[in-house]
Amino acid sequence: MIVCICNNVSERKIRQAVDGGMTSMPQLRDCLSVGTCCGKCHPHAKQVLRECVADI
Ligand code: FES
Repeated sequence: MIVCICNNVSERKIRQAVDGGMTSMPQLRDCLSVGTCCGKCHPHAKQVLRECVADI
């Protein structure tokens, strides 16, 4: 499922980023540009990040 439409970032990409060591929104933003355009995806991206980090 796409989380960030503006930058075409899926839940899967976020999960892969977490598997690669990302644990915070600033890191995700730098790595995937998630939330850098309209910002509407920020709450969803944060939730997905939290779930992925909890799964580690
Ligand atoms: Fe992510 Fe717009 S949907 S910045």
